[in-house]
Amino acid sequence: MGREDEEKYGDGVIVGYGTINGRKVFLFAQDFTFMGGSLGTVHARKIQKVQEMSLKMGHPIIGLIDSGGARIQEGVASLAGYAGIFMQNVKSSGVIPQISVILGPAAGGAVYSPALTDFRFMTKDTSYMFVTGPEVVKEVLNEDVTFEDLGGAEVHATESGVADMIFNDEEHTLMGVKKLLSYLPSNNVEHPPVKRDEDIEPGKPEKLSLLLPDDPNKPYDVVDVIRLIVDKGSFFEIAEKHAQNIVIGLARLNNQVIGVVANQPKVMAGCLDINASKKAARFVRFCDSFNVPVLVLEDVPGFMPGKSQEQNAIIMHGAKLLYAFAEATVPKVTVILRKAFGGAYIVMNSKNMGGDFNFAWPTAQVAVMGPEGAVKILNRKELASAKDPEELKRKLIADYKDNVANPYVADEKGYIDEVIDPSETRQVIINAFALLENKVEQNPIRKHGNIPL
Ligand code: HXC
Repeated sequence: MGREDEEKYGDGVIVGYGTINGRKVFLFAQDFTFMGGSLGTVHARKIQKVQEMSLKMGHPIIGLIDSGGARIQEGVASLAGYAGIFMQNVKSSGVIPQISVILGPAAGGAVYSPALTDFRFMTKDTSYMFVTGPEVVKEVLNEDVTFEDLGGAEVHATESGVADMIFNDEEHTLMGVKKLLSYLPSNNVEHPPVKRDEDIEPGKPEKLSLLLPDDPNKPYDVVDVIRLIVDKGSFFEIAEKHAQNIVIGLARLNNQVIGVVANQPKVMAGCLDINASKKAARFVRFCDSFNVPVLVLEDVPGFMPGKSQEQNAIIMHGAKLLYAFAEATVPKVTVILRKAFGGAYIVMNSKNMGGDFNFAWPTAQVAVMGPEGAVKILNRKELASAKDPEELKRKLIADYKDNVANPYVADEKGYIDEVIDPSETRQVIINAFALLENKVEQNPIRKHGNIPL
């Protein structure tokens, strides 16, 4: 066979299986040099075949995507090919981890299949994702746009949130995929792999007591808190550049894999907005699908107010996070580091939303709203008629902190299980997850819930 025939024989995609760090995975890799990696009937059947095998055998599947989408010459047959792939993506969702790695341009169906998978990796400057390319944009909208601006790795990692991880080159991108897999079980009936490391190095939890600023309105980096709690060097942050007011990622705690969701006070004071709610909700659901216990580190002044948020449906998007925590049956532990106000208190895995263990640091403020706001509303008349309003305000704020917004009140009422010293946090969480090891909880049988989309 000549080179051309050989290429036709493969129809622009290689499929197969192998091992990564000794664990089995299925893969397919598209070849852009053959008809732009476009998806024809044979190409589609090959991908569907490995999709079916990976689902039946319970192993993760990785797609290396480099494709112009449905093969135009094959018409409806190529569209039907994508439909079959999407069906298989959905069937596998929550059963086996599905990972998409975008290594070149990806358009049309080539982006919708990745969108149905659990994670999307991209490489800077060489990978692109868009429903329609720059030429179509020019034709339909008469707009000039570059590949980079329309769907480059940076845009998807920061603005759209489509890319979960981006790297400078393909080698590091693939290393990132391998690292992610090291935290994941092969399927939804397995538990995440336990590292058999006798010499776990904790991340210096004693330093936690010194980390929070004295002023409750001053920011700090919650990633420092995470790193001091989990096993040293084990935090693998996901979607680092998107919705930075919330931090999500996988880590190991005493060698056991956990998922971490943490408000980030250094960005927008850690407020929950639309993007943060979506980012965290999706991650919680992923963790729940694959038996990854969830740790919540909470410091959140509330949901983000404003016209833009309301007009873009913060109500529905914020509800996604409520829904995700409420339906998750994996072990769920919350530590309130500082602020836990209003709806944001409820949503961040509070006791009544199904938190299994809820702890708070002594610095925690748990209330409907912050002291300043509360005093303004509750004591407006007294303050208006006071001889020294500032002095009275200070006193009222102190009273509010003592009697309402402190963790001991929440503890007394059973909404917090224990107020803990920050330096004990790691050990307390390890003990909590150990107790939860055999947790059994089931949602009512139903076709599926109706998460607010
Ligand atoms: C057949 C295709 C093709 C396609 C590219 N090629 N896309 N052949 N079907 N879908 C071929 C080109 O003709 C060219 O062949 C070669 O691949 C390289 O393409 P270039 O355009 O030269 O490459 P580049 O400039 O890098 O642009 C890449 C691209 C662009 C942005 C992906 O090719 C493009 O816009 N393609 C069409 C994208 C698209 O609209 N696809 C259909 C979407 S509909 P030669 O022989 O010249 O080397 C769809 C249905 C699913 O996918 C919908 C899901 C809901």
